[in-house]
Amino acid sequence: MRRFTPEYLRDTRRGLWDDREILSPHFAGSPARILDVGAGTGEFTTVLREESGADVLALDADKRLLRTGSVPNAVQGAATRLPFLSGTVDLVTCQALLVNVADPTAVVAEFARVSADRVGAVEPDNGAVTVESTVERESAVARRARRAYRRGLETNSRIGTDLKQLFTEQGFRDITVSRMVHERRIEPPYTANAIESARRKVRATRIDDHRETMLAGGLSAADFDTLRDDWQAMGRSVVKQVKTDSYRRRETVPFYIATGRLAGA
Ligand SMILES: C[S@@+](CC[C@H](N)C(=O)[O-])C[C@H]1O[C@@H](n2cnc3c(N)ncnc32)[C@H](O)[C@@H]1O
Repeated sequence: MRRFTPEYLRDTRRGLWDDREILSPHFAGSPARILDVGAGTGEFTTVLREESGADVLALDADKRLLRTGSVPNAVQGAATRLPFLSGTVDLVTCQALLVNVADPTAVVAEFARVSADRVGAVEPDNGAVTVESTVERESAVARRARRAYRRGLETNSRIGTDLKQLFTEQGFRDITVSRMVHERRIEPPYTANAIESARRKVRATRIDDHRETMLAGGLSAADFDTLRDDWQAMGRSVVKQVKTDSYRRRETVPFYIATGRLAGA
């Protein structure tokens, strides 16, 4: 299972739910009890609580993440074997969980077992990420790195685009699927996170973390070394521009928001 840091989750979720209208189908049945599976530090749990006023439980396999977050009702557990009786929660949902699991069908089936009414999911299409940058080579190097990484994954990095099919196969009804684009910008004045992220590029931290996955996806060791060199050169240009306040970066990640109702509800 891929491990996440609280900093990564906080950083990548910034601005994701500035506009929450698109989440309204999740609350159509006025759920009193919601379960957020794969909650991590509870970034989505908080949004669910604020928008619904419901009793929201957070579950994750990683208790270190649950502890770091500020979620009051947190439970450690596995998404494929939720520690709840059947039909005891009004809405079971997740954000960026299915993109990280080997068998999303089994996870959604488990959501349906525990839910008494609705099931939801918010998942990205990581195959359609875009990067624009004032560092000319950043967009192309980032694309090469993403492609090599995605090829080595045993999970579906484009799961967002498959939610409709996944929910239909489970026999859910009243399925709604919407798409939103999460935009993240780096521009002056830079946050401490943005400065650290530029430095990490020079150190090739993220590339090194993903080496095994990239090799598993068919990238040769020599091509990995070339990519790593190009990544570091790109990182040095980023740091140079940061020092003169001239660095700007815009990244977009499409997210799909799906809600469905159990056939018998
Ligand atoms: C990308 S993070 C998303 C966290 C949070 N939902 C958010 O959007 O900020 C994926 C989370 O799913 C958890 N996870 C992955 N596989 C899991 C499983 N089989 N059962 C429970 N949690 C799992 C990870 O520990 C991690 O916290």
